[in-house]
Amino acid sequence: MKKVSVSFLSSKHIPQDLRILDQSDADYIHVDIMDGKFVKRKTMPFREMKHIYKYTSKRLDVHLMVEKPSKFIPLYAELNSEFITFHIESEEDIMKNLELIKSYSIGCGLALNPDTPVKELVPYLPYLDEILIMSVVPGEGGQEFIPETEKKLKEVKELLKSYHLKTIVNVDGGINDITKKKCGDADILTSGSYILRSENYQEKISSLR
Ligand code: DX5
Ligand code: ZN
Repeated sequence: MKKVSVSFLSSKHIPQDLRILDQSDADYIHVDIMDGKFVKRKTMPFREMKHIYKYTSKRLDVHLMVEKPSKFIPLYAELNSEFITFHIESEEDIMKNLELIKSYSIGCGLALNPDTPVKELVPYLPYLDEILIMSVVPGEGGQEFIPETEKKLKEVKELLKSYHLKTIVNVDGGINDITKKKCGDADILTSGSYILRSENYQEKISSLR
């Protein structure tokens, strides 16, 4: 059965939505962090974001859409994070940042933009706990799933198999009950607006498994 990670990026009532999600069987809360540089938008600062623990007891799946992950990793390592993922397209030394995440005993992940080839992952494969395949261009919730993701996901799975690795593969962006069919090989599906724009969050979560 697939795991479901719920993104609250497009939520207009964050505390209330997180409380409802806390009662659901969602596996993780996906925390999207944007710096206004790597992507246009900027999310709330850590001093506000850290209060998330008041509304959810779920483990966090942190997605850093930032140029300089090393500024954010120590902050988000303080929270109840299962994974911290940053972009392979970020500016800093990738290995150093993967090691920084691991130094907190948190699962480390690399995210791949839609245009970035899968082969770029190769040097880092043995170190990764999670691979986050972007199925939209990062920056906004509520976008449409890019169909080429299906092929990319298969490529990632084949690559992992050839190295005998069981790294967790997460697909993020535009996931709903139709597009999930293109993500048969994923271990986690990250979804935001499909769930939060509905009347019944649990029903939508169940439809993704
Ligand atoms: C995109 C974010 C995604 C997004 C998912 O920049 O990384 O996590 O919020 O939301 P939906 O499901 O609405 O595409
Ligand atoms: Zn995300």
